[in-house]
Amino acid sequence: MPRVPMVGTKIAAFAVLVISLSLLGCAGQQGGMSAGMANDASGGKTGAALFKQRCASCHPNGGNVFKAEKTLHKAVLSANNLANADALVKYVRKPGQGMPKFSERSLPDPEARKIAEYVLKTF
Ligand code: HEC
Repeated sequence: MPRVPMVGTKIAAFAVLVISLSLLGCAGQQGGMSAGMANDASGGKTGAALFKQRCASCHPNGGNVFKAEKTLHKAVLSANNLANADALVKYVRKPGQGMPKFSERSLPDPEARKIAEYVLKTF
């Protein structure tokens, strides 16, 4: 059975080649990867996805699990002068009691704006 070790050696050599190629690939891509990730942080996600991630736990379907009357429904937002994207972005930076504050660092303006637009068109 001299062929079996031969095959084994070939496979091993192939594996080494694949591994070193993929390592090289990663090293070569690192700049590109982080640029891509920065893009994602500022604009890769939809307003819907961001809302789900950052807001929906307390505002499922635009409601409010803590203060039932403070929903994100258009009529309620209008009554509270929050029915536009600027006002909503400002609001999350300085929210009412019981809602965590979203700083520019934790939720950059472009993301906050996407969420605001999603809220306005959805609820
Ligand atoms: C931990 C729970 C929590 C999270 C997370 C949260 N909120 Fe709130 N939110 C609240 C509470 C509580 C209030 C009521 C504050 C008050 O009494 O003024 C509120 C109020 C609001 C209001 C005012 C509604 C009104 O009718 O006056 C808006 C707008 C709002 N949230 C948007 C958001 C957005 C957008 C996000 C995500 C970026 C978010 N919230 C995340 C708890 C939360």
